[in-house]
Amino acid sequence: MTAPPDEHREPPSSFVEQANLRDRTICEEFEANWPGCWEQAADVLDWHREYDQVLDESNAPFYEWFCGGELNASYNCLDRHIEAGRKNHAALKWEGKRRETRTYTYQDLSHEVNEVAAALRDLGVGEDDVVTLYLPMIPELPIAMLACARIGAPHSVVFAGFSADALATRMESATSEYLITCDGYYRRGNAFNQKSKADNALMELDNDVTTVVVDRLGEELDHTLDERQYDYEDLLIAHAGARVSPVARDGEDMLFLMYTSGTTGEPKGVTHTTGGYLSYAAWTARTVLDVKPEDTYWCSADIGWITGHSYTVYGPLALGTTSVIYEGTPDYPDRSRLWEIIERNAVDVFYTAPTAIRAFMKWGEQYPESHDLSSLRLLGTVGEPINPRAWKWYYTHIGNESCPVVDTWWQTETGGIMITTLPGVNTMKPGSAGPSLPGIGARVVSEDGSTIEAGEAGYLVIDRPWPGMFRTLYGNDDQYVHEYWDRFSVDDEWVYLTGDGATVDEDGYITVLGRVDDVINVSGHRLGTMEIESAIVGVSGVAEAAVVGGNHETNGTAVYAYVSTDHSQEPSEALEARITDAVEDTIGPFARPEDVIFTPELPKTRSGKIMRRLLENIANHEPLGDTSTLRNPEVVGEIEAADRKE
Ligand code: PRX
Repeated sequence: MTAPPDEHREPPSSFVEQANLRDRTICEEFEANWPGCWEQAADVLDWHREYDQVLDESNAPFYEWFCGGELNASYNCLDRHIEAGRKNHAALKWEGKRRETRTYTYQDLSHEVNEVAAALRDLGVGEDDVVTLYLPMIPELPIAMLACARIGAPHSVVFAGFSADALATRMESATSEYLITCDGYYRRGNAFNQKSKADNALMELDNDVTTVVVDRLGEELDHTLDERQYDYEDLLIAHAGARVSPVARDGEDMLFLMYTSGTTGEPKGVTHTTGGYLSYAAWTARTVLDVKPEDTYWCSADIGWITGHSYTVYGPLALGTTSVIYEGTPDYPDRSRLWEIIERNAVDVFYTAPTAIRAFMKWGEQYPESHDLSSLRLLGTVGEPINPRAWKWYYTHIGNESCPVVDTWWQTETGGIMITTLPGVNTMKPGSAGPSLPGIGARVVSEDGSTIEAGEAGYLVIDRPWPGMFRTLYGNDDQYVHEYWDRFSVDDEWVYLTGDGATVDEDGYITVLGRVDDVINVSGHRLGTMEIESAIVGVSGVAEAAVVGGNHETNGTAVYAYVSTDHSQEPSEALEARITDAVEDTIGPFARPEDVIFTPELPKTRSGKIMRRLLENIANHEPLGDTSTLRNPEVVGEIEAADRKE
């Protein structure tokens, strides 16, 4: 829902005066010169070899960008800033869970990245070998990413909260024989063992894996190193002062893989390239997030997800700014923690998720009010729709009505921001993300692919390629075409299906309504209902399961699992616990169902398909509409009754 016109806001003039992008004609310019306009993005970077062609569409939808160009991502994020005389500028400011702080200048960061790159090479990592990184929010994570990029080894970061099984599945899918992990980390003040999860995953794999272990907890948690396991610090000592020349990568070479959830039970390896991705991450960080080299910039997303890749690591470091990394949660040790970090570091730009904003609202404005947040210049949100009330709270209580708020829509697959207001140019309409960025072809279409009337809901699609787009799903070109491009493409007119529903208004502002496929977004974590269901049906005694996303006050959406048991089992608390444990073991604690609702049967169509939409309506206490087409309409009343009991 978009706010009414009297609640729209113009960009504050104090912001506009200094904005990186003030030119109101940029959209027309990009249209007139498409795809050549994207040279602007490539120009943000330094290329080892200039590209010959901006876009090659001959093998669409396998597009290629900046063809013939060569570059190195770590060179662009480190060396070139040092060569420009900025070696003593802070690159990373790390805030640990126990109030430890560490600052890395560009020089420091470059030193350690080079040492790790040398160590990885020594351990046998070659160009194009996939290195899996299974680390929490510690500086060693971006360091390892850049070290991989330096030697041309794609990284695959697996969010630290994933389970051993989930790690093993991702390593196996990527045939990854190298892993960087840590002994453990602090969770709400307690030492939590990460290495044992990693070791369990390794036991599931057939391949021998070489592992590097960062000692995060020291004496707080003992760990031993097995064969083929190396201590990170020992490797740094052994490679002290080493220099590794950045490998010139073809622009289309893979920079990283990022597994994400889709509509099937298997996670998908979204493949991003060196040239197009990095250009797009850096260009959008500059134009949308207004990042400047002298800024202290903070994106609070975990680096284990795409937002942290593009807007904590690659975008900001390519621009030579100072990027803050925070290891902890917003409410530990107290609810002022984020505001205290912003005040102490004089953060200029803050980018977070609506889930966090809803939690801040619930806690009350007394926490931000007790801190000086006047350093802030721009606020951003990402990951889910933000309702006008949360938007206004953020604008007023964090931004003091003097910072533009950019509501940025994008996805793991898009690599960077696609739909938002340009903060120095566009009117802000709370609740609506905004228009397509210049050069981006976002549209809302009906079932038959035709563009819909303003105000009507339809499918959000992108009808033109863009530099930051993923190039395929790792090892699965067919699924890439089938899942993303088959639905609305006609002849050579390729149309990318986002999986989201949306409306568009008469000014071209897009309001994203949420997923229209079997993917749910819980507190910014993207989950496939099929993945959760297959974990649940693996529990003995469970006959069938259907998982849906239902409204949740703080998390926006929560997982609700409807489960029927087989003859061997009666519904019980013990079974419920086994079900939630199975989800935690197969995926991770963040996928844990909010509720498990036992039902004698699941509602099915006459052809035997589970009616998920109906379950969603039940979970949200919404009208159910016509249920007469069900094969078993009588079950609906029973499910509603079971739901009320929860
Ligand atoms: O449903 C949309 C939602 O997040 C999905 C993408 O999730 P993921 O690949 O994990 O990437 C999240 C961070 C980029 C989208 O399909 N989404 C993302 N941003 C917004 C959003 N929904 C509404 N408004 C947004 N600003």
